[in-house]
Amino acid sequence: AALSQDELKQLVGRAALQYVVPGEILGVGTGSTVNCFIDALAQIKAQIPGAVSSSEASTQRLRALGIPVLEAAAVQRLSVYVDGADEIDGQGCMIKGGGAALTREKIVAALAERFVCIADASKRVQVLGRFPLPVEVIPMAAAQLGRRFAALGGQARLRLKDGVPLVTDNGQHILDVHGLQIGAPLAFENEVSQWPGVVTVGVFAHQRASVCLLGSASGVQTLSF
Ligand code: A5P
Repeated sequence: AALSQDELKQLVGRAALQYVVPGEILGVGTGSTVNCFIDALAQIKAQIPGAVSSSEASTQRLRALGIPVLEAAAVQRLSVYVDGADEIDGQGCMIKGGGAALTREKIVAALAERFVCIADASKRVQVLGRFPLPVEVIPMAAAQLGRRFAALGGQARLRLKDGVPLVTDNGQHILDVHGLQIGAPLAFENEVSQWPGVVTVGVFAHQRASVCLLGSASGVQTLSF
């Protein structure tokens, strides 16, 4: 029988263990695929002196295994950061932020020499943008940023939670931009990052994946960039 999406996530979560460097602090992202990775870490936890995490949820899951979690500010570099993605293209550029933690994710990824992306095959796209692009913004800039995205052909919607604007860990709002086709992710990230009021754009081109472990019906496919 074909593997379910959960089984694919478990498969790539286990496959990512081979990228963990024994004796070194590990960078850990957020999401349901990363949860499978953290569960798999139990097997090798004696080799992991500690981790830096991109969310409260992952921090709790790591601590429950007995893995100490350090502040990102206490770490100068990481060899490896393992995280999921909402989309990944043929160059390892990604859209992230479906879970609203994109700013922390980009900060921890920027500490790491290698970003190991774990995902099921449905995340692999030719051109980024079918998944609405998350952008963390300063609330007073949201309307003007919406007009800038409209000029690029996108429709920005303020992300809501329980009927009111979602507030991020950093006290800001999220725009989800529909209808974009991001064919040049690095140029796009450079441009949008400079717009006044943008905290973090959910395009990860500077912090792109060096490896992607893609779970598909035929097993784990390893893409290197
Ligand atoms: C969190 O903000 C996102 O960037 C996640 O990395 C992404 O949503 C992947 O989550 P899943 O593994 O649950 O699909």
